Amino acid sequence: MNVGSHQAQVESDRRHTPPPASIPSSTQTSLGAFLGGKAASLGNRLSDFFTEQRLSIRTAGRQPVSAPDAVPYSTFAYWSIQRVLDRLQLTPDDVFVDLGCGRGRVVCCAALRAARKIIGVDIDPDLCQQARQNAARLRGRRTPVEILNVPAQDCDYSECTVMFMFNPFGRQTVTSVAAAIIDSIQRKPRSVRFGYVNPRHDEVFRDSGAFEQFDRWTPPPWSRLKFDVSFWRSLPRE
Ligand SMILES: C[S@@+](CC[C@H](N)C(=O)[O-])C[C@H]1O[C@@H](n2cnc3c(N)ncnc32)[C@H](O)[C@@H]1O
Repeated sequence: MNVGSHQAQVESDRRHTPPPASIPSSTQTSLGAFLGGKAASLGNRLSDFFTEQRLSIRTAGRQPVSAPDAVPYSTFAYWSIQRVLDRLQLTPDDVFVDLGCGRGRVVCCAALRAARKIIGVDIDPDLCQQARQNAARLRGRRTPVEILNVPAQDCDYSECTVMFMFNPFGRQTVTSVAAAIIDSIQRKPRSVRFGYVNPRHDEVFRDSGAFEQFDRWTPPPWSRLKFDVSFWRSLPRE
């Protein structure tokens, strides 16, 4: 083999040499994603802790809920809540409602912004009581808060313009809630938009023919946002 062909062989080997066998390339990528995801979760937990001190509220943790089709109480990172609220672009004329508000973390974040009213709806009386206490203690509130202890499917939504859900209930209840929202728009025509975090039953809104999706976020594993989010708005009436 002459020098030229040897060099060509070395170049060719370098191009085709796989990464070290001990760490396959796919594992390197997923390990990086895994570590990035852990770091993002830790960052969220730390910043959530300090945000609760600053706002003077207590919303962390989980709590079982005994109601048919209900998802138990849990919440998600303040950082992500702020991003979702930014995307929903609350204005001083908006009435915002969190369907399944739990201890009121999202309600309290929304109340820091200028709007007409912030409403929290939850089926569990104890969670509603905690949400009321949190709203009363909240530092920096700019908008009044009302907490309603009723099933979301039985609410009158006719004054609401911005809605929010963090996967609060199963398909059957989502279907009833979508029908209640559509009914309220028919009775009181207006534009409605909403954010659905961990959107397990997005198809209900898509198939209703009354809403269009105006955004969808699918975060990578290392993101501080830990759930998909879909954004919907009501279609203008013909
Ligand atoms: C995953 S937690 C979300 C809490 C809150 N939205 C947040 O993001 O911090 C779901 C909540 O939905 C409530 N929920 C479940 N079924 C409901 C229903 N039919 N009507 C109203 N609230 C309901 C539960 O009690 C629970 O607090």
